[in-house]
Amino acid sequence: MNPVTIHPDPAAAGAAIAADIADLIRRRQAEGRPTVLGLATGATPVPVYRELVRLHQEEGLGFEGVRSFNLDEYWPIDPAHPRSFARFMREELFVPAGLDPKDCRIPDGLTPMPQLAEACRAYEQAIRDAGGIDLQLLGIGLSGHIGFNEPGALAGSRTRLVELAESTRLRAAPAFGEEEVPKRGISVGIGTILEARQIVLLAFGEEKAEIVARARQDEPSVAIPATLLRSHPDLRWVLDEAAARRL
Ligand code: F6R
Repeated sequence: MNPVTIHPDPAAAGAAIAADIADLIRRRQAEGRPTVLGLATGATPVPVYRELVRLHQEEGLGFEGVRSFNLDEYWPIDPAHPRSFARFMREELFVPAGLDPKDCRIPDGLTPMPQLAEACRAYEQAIRDAGGIDLQLLGIGLSGHIGFNEPGALAGSRTRLVELAESTRLRAAPAFGEEEVPKRGISVGIGTILEARQIVLLAFGEEKAEIVARARQDEPSVAIPATLLRSHPDLRWVLDEAAARRL
């Protein structure tokens, strides 16, 4: 079974993962090699980003040589929109940690429909050209979704336009206020994620306890996309005590 580490709270988990990421970056910098990170949005990775920002601002961690690829973005959405994942990443990590915007890729929520297929292929190619993802950070949705790989997503899926599950849109609705939550998104696939050399799956809080247990214990199936990641040779779960309650 994929290993699991349980921390007392999300801040402790975030600090531990940020320390691992900082080690990886420093090792690669010493070797003159790039570090390629796969990044997620939502509440879950925020403690990791907070600690990376602190390490940058207080302990001089530099992000030279770091390239990043985010998992997903709403479509259509303007990258300047307050709820876009592009804006979230700029505010939570890229700007305060001093990352160079040209090194940080996120699927473009303004890609016109006729160019989407080509843009998705180009995103996959950019990941390969960067040397592949060294470390992929993931959160899990209550449905077991990973990125915008909603139930039904195939193990071999690639970056593509996807329909968002109703539960995903409902959860995002308060943040969008009066505005309608986009019905679709662009997401890297389960197949793309499985090619990362290392995967860190984070989950915090009581509300995630049941899906964490099912993702680890149910038969792998498209009904719970996270189960499709279990075959990965270097996937570990990082939980707080509340999310680990059903294990
Ligand atoms: C978003 C993503 C999703 C979220 C999941 C959990 O880039 O990858 O899989 O991680 O929806 O969201 P939160 O963290 O807000 O509970």
